Amino acid sequence: MVKHVIHRSVLLAEAVDLLDPRPGGIYVDGNLGMGGHSREILRRSAPSGRVIGFDWDEAALDMARHNLAEFGHRVDFVHDNFAVIPERLKERRVEKIDGLLLDLGLSSYQLTGSERGFSFQGSEPLDMRMDKRRQLTAAKLLNTASAADLADIFYHYGEERQARRIAAFVVEYRRGKNFVSTDQLVDVVERAVPRRFRPKKIHVATKVFQALRIAVNGELDNLLKILMHGPQILKQGAVFAVISFHSLEDRLVKRAFQNNPSLSAVTRKPVIAGEDELLVNPRARSAKLRAVRQQSPATAKKGML
Ligand SMILES: C[S@@+](CC[C@H](N)C(=O)[O-])C[C@H]1O[C@@H](n2cnc3c(N)ncnc32)[C@H](O)[C@@H]1O
Repeated sequence: MVKHVIHRSVLLAEAVDLLDPRPGGIYVDGNLGMGGHSREILRRSAPSGRVIGFDWDEAALDMARHNLAEFGHRVDFVHDNFAVIPERLKERRVEKIDGLLLDLGLSSYQLTGSERGFSFQGSEPLDMRMDKRRQLTAAKLLNTASAADLADIFYHYGEERQARRIAAFVVEYRRGKNFVSTDQLVDVVERAVPRRFRPKKIHVATKVFQALRIAVNGELDNLLKILMHGPQILKQGAVFAVISFHSLEDRLVKRAFQNNPSLSAVTRKPVIAGEDELLVNPRARSAKLRAVRQQSPATAKKGML
């Protein structure tokens, strides 16, 4: 049974304003989720704008299908990784698009309703796969990776300063018992990190959970792929907008946008959520929206000189 959880789309008006959807346009939503951003794109590009929406989580895609049913054939639902958007468009004989949106990370449903161990609250199976077709689960990673690899994951994907110590405690723990559920991991992290080294504003296991999730889902690799190949499927003047939720993602987005001479900045600084949004949606706290525009081929050439 899928628990019903409301997902409030982050920076909804801001992101869709930047995309400026028009009738007749084709827009790709790489993170369909519950369909919140796509709904707004479809509304503003009525009567003939289309959305090709990607989500690799079957449960999310089902919810989006339900939520966007009224738009009928104007939406195409694709159960796949946004890293392969260019290939999937080619198969559909769509050469170029009018806008591309990524709203990275997890939906509220995944975090609190999917029971896949994304949250350190409660006790859930240590799965963490957004796409159930993937092989590697968080439990498997914790039970089999070397201490050095685990430390690298915690350090690079979680920016966790106690990475080595936590990895050593994980390896010690699994000598006696396999990791199965999230409470075991929370316990081990709590034991590994002495009180004086604990962060003040976040839970002591926050970064370890983030790191495992990124590793299990290959999140940064997927992002790099679409940042590299996404611009090539944009029509001249089309906008590529990305909402990211932590500094590792935001850094990749910023660099890829700056280093691509065919793109011009639409947002000089990242757009962040205003007070009103933060009051109703704490998830928006860490969100950063950056957008760029595909320039004319002539300007792109100039940029390369
Ligand atoms: C923050 S939610 C999107 C919410 C959506 N914009 C809305 O307003 O309802 C992120 C979604 O992206 C999906 N996702 C994350 N990484 C993905 C990837 N590499 N490929 C496809 N979907 C991905 C997740 O499964 C999740 O449903």
